Amino acid sequence: MSGALHLEGVSIALEGRMLIPPLSVSVPPGHVVTLMGPSGSGKSTLLSFLGGTIAAAFRAAGRVWIGEREVTEEPPERRRIGILFQDDLLFPHLSVGENLAFGLGPRVRGRKLRAARVDAALDEAGLAGFAARDPATLSGGQRARVALLRLLLAEPEALLLDEPFNKLDTVLRADFRRFVFGHAVAAGLPVLMVTHDRADAEAAKGPVLELGTSAGGAPEISAARVPCSIEAAGAAVPSGEVRAPPKKGADG
Ligand SMILES: Nc1ncnc2c1ncn2[C@@H]1O[C@H](COP(=O)(O)OP(=O)(O)OP(=O)(O)O)[C@@H](O)[C@H]1O
Ligand SMILES: [Mg+2]
Repeated sequence: MSGALHLEGVSIALEGRMLIPPLSVSVPPGHVVTLMGPSGSGKSTLLSFLGGTIAAAFRAAGRVWIGEREVTEEPPERRRIGILFQDDLLFPHLSVGENLAFGLGPRVRGRKLRAARVDAALDEAGLAGFAARDPATLSGGQRARVALLRLLLAEPEALLLDEPFNKLDTVLRADFRRFVFGHAVAAGLPVLMVTHDRADAEAAKGPVLELGTSAGGAPEISAARVPCSIEAAGAAVPSGEVRAPPKKGADG
């Protein structure tokens, strides 16, 4: 069980134009918050900021915590944030088992223990006996499940979903959604999902934030469904201005 994923005043601008207006939101462990927005609105960029890999072309502000741990300035590998993409990004030159073992990282030591963890993950995905398979020989749904399990084997403390259901057909999509949300909730992870598919948002059953455009043309975030833990700072910010991150109290 990890802490909440907490964003405070996170905003992103590109070439002086605000993409993501200041967003403050807290995602409790075992819950999914969805951010919806049209193509090009900056959803993937927001996730790359949270993961620590945002491109230099963007200007970002705001602070990010997992529980009590601030990760805003941490390098990606120390954040312990897993991102699942639309493309599964399995390594084509590694077997399915080797892909999963890569997720394990160096902390799990010993051949036997590593092999046992990989086998358990394959079992869980309904893929027992698939360790030696070439990922290219898997179906789309099977690849997607392996990609999620590889990510979870790294024991992340938060999970970001970048439209990972997009490429699957309707039936597989519903299956894989259940698989992802089920595993994330069981692992007690806070999950932030971005999507432009309303069905994804509905399946997540959590609060939904919408990234849209105000009457004045500035991007704004509104809360489509708001429980008490969610606070969307939807105030329109003049184009080109990026707000400074809010000061944290002495306890932070
Ligand atoms: N590395 C980069 N350098 C400059 N501009 C970029 C870079 N990556 C993305 N962009 C631009 O930033 C904007 C936001 O892109 P982003 O990929 O975050 O959108 P998105 O909401 O994820 O869209 P989609 O739903 O199509 O995935 C787009 O205008 C895109 O062209
Ligand atoms: Mg995207």
